[in-house]
Amino acid sequence: MIWNLGSINVDNFYYLPHLVAPGETLAATDYKQGLGGKGANMSVACARAGARVSHIGAVGPEGKWAVDRLLEYGVDTPHITLTETPTGHANICIDRAGENSIVLFSGANGVLTEQMIGGALTQASAKDVLLMQNETNGQPYAARTARTLGLQVVYAAAPFSAEAVLEVIDHIDLLVLNEVEAAQLRDATGKELSDLVIENIVVTLGSMGCELIARNSAAATRLPAYKVNAVDTTGAGDTFTGYLVAGLDRGMAMLDALDLALRAAALMVTRRGTADVVPELREVRNHNFD
Ligand code: RIB
Ligand code: NA
Repeated sequence: MIWNLGSINVDNFYYLPHLVAPGETLAATDYKQGLGGKGANMSVACARAGARVSHIGAVGPEGKWAVDRLLEYGVDTPHITLTETPTGHANICIDRAGENSIVLFSGANGVLTEQMIGGALTQASAKDVLLMQNETNGQPYAARTARTLGLQVVYAAAPFSAEAVLEVIDHIDLLVLNEVEAAQLRDATGKELSDLVIENIVVTLGSMGCELIARNSAAATRLPAYKVNAVDTTGAGDTFTGYLVAGLDRGMAMLDALDLALRAAALMVTRRGTADVVPELREVRNHNFD
């Protein structure tokens, strides 16, 4: 079972001819709204990948729809708290090449208490996994508590802050980050990733796939990405991590789980939207990539 301490956002998508330049006013060619947040996206990905997942998070007074939607998508929601702080949201600009830029308002994602997190984790068992990203507060407490209880701890370091990684680095078993972030972490620690005391580190490489740095192996293992036409990269990283963690939770070997995650992420890149459009396991398994 996966416990996901994560954000829940209203995602506002603006489709644009190009990303907005400073001082520019630009008309969107299309608009849509959906359920998002790196946390919610990963919870949905875990559920669609066939894992049991309980989301730990918070929404505002008007955020019950988001909880209902997570429930509808197969995510356990008893540890999502309704607060007085508005639901987090993200205004996502997407250009014709599928590239994005995002304005984030954390809102209720930033008001989690140790009671909310600790209360949820008292229900966890030592075979479980704690998953976290960097769009809520409370990760250091959650990681320490989960470790004490014997859970595996996975941290997807997005949005990236080296400081935030350093706060949890002694309490995580799997770290997921991209290439640019990996370089920033190297600078912040003065160490190679392979010298960090983390069992597994996965570096995502976008259209180049990903790399696994396992603590007990001398060289990194590279896995190529599946080729697709990118329409919207938003949520692809979250889909990757959710599928990876779900695969590991269901007992898959690391390289098999990574391959499944790459397949899911590739499909996600072909779709507009985030949590609402995460592919189902059956589609991920059966899709023919050429
Ligand atoms: O990773 C994509 C997510 O980042 C979006 O769903 C948006 O909410 C932002 O948090
Ligand atoms: Na997408």
